[in-house]
Amino acid sequence: MIGVFDSGLGGLSVLAAIARALPHADLSYLADTAHVPYGDKPDGFIRGRVLAIGRHLVERGCTLLVVACNTATAHAVTALRHQHPGVAVVGVEPGVKPAAQTTRSGRIAVLATEATARSERLAHLVRDHAAHLDVRVVPCPGWATRVETLQFDGADFAAEVQGTLRPLLDHGVDRIVLGCTHYAFLAPLMTPAVQGRAELIDVADAVARQVVRQGGTGSGGATLRL
Ligand code: DGL
Repeated sequence: MIGVFDSGLGGLSVLAAIARALPHADLSYLADTAHVPYGDKPDGFIRGRVLAIGRHLVERGCTLLVVACNTATAHAVTALRHQHPGVAVVGVEPGVKPAAQTTRSGRIAVLATEATARSERLAHLVRDHAAHLDVRVVPCPGWATRVETLQFDGADFAAEVQGTLRPLLDHGVDRIVLGCTHYAFLAPLMTPAVQGRAELIDVADAVARQVVRQGGTGSGGATLRL
């Protein structure tokens, strides 16, 4: 069984991609809705939740864990692998690499939770793949909660999203990385605003390919670095 988890429903965007890639896989999804959002929590709290969920899923028979959450991956994927050395663990990290490889303007942005934005892991990702580029990391407090509570179709939130995107587009950013799995559900809101000026980068399908490569069993694992 493949255990997929997130703080809430954001990881469903990843689950859907895995289900498309592996239609017959035995999938189990856990949403930690009692503790959502993770993005405004301390690093140690996030790590504690990830280790507890990992233990629960492995006890239920999962042989592959997918951390369908950038925030949880940033702060806890290493600890999770140490806790379960015999279980394959696939993490999710913002698509900085595909953004860096395809940008024409040399300017990219990463939208993420506060916890991901401040993480060492994201800093390393940027240093490894986009050190030569102009990279703007933009924390988006409250956005995951908007998605989680299905309150993202109002004019006030649309204005907040436009207000975040506009300065990036005016700066010449042409790749905008959705660095939180919840934000996949905001793509329909963002697409009209960025149309013709920037592309949104989401890694759900690439994560699913990584899960296929892991085969659902075995040990080891990898955090997706596109
Ligand atoms: N969906 C998660 C992510 O990818 C976390 C959102 C949150 O709980 O703050 O970062």
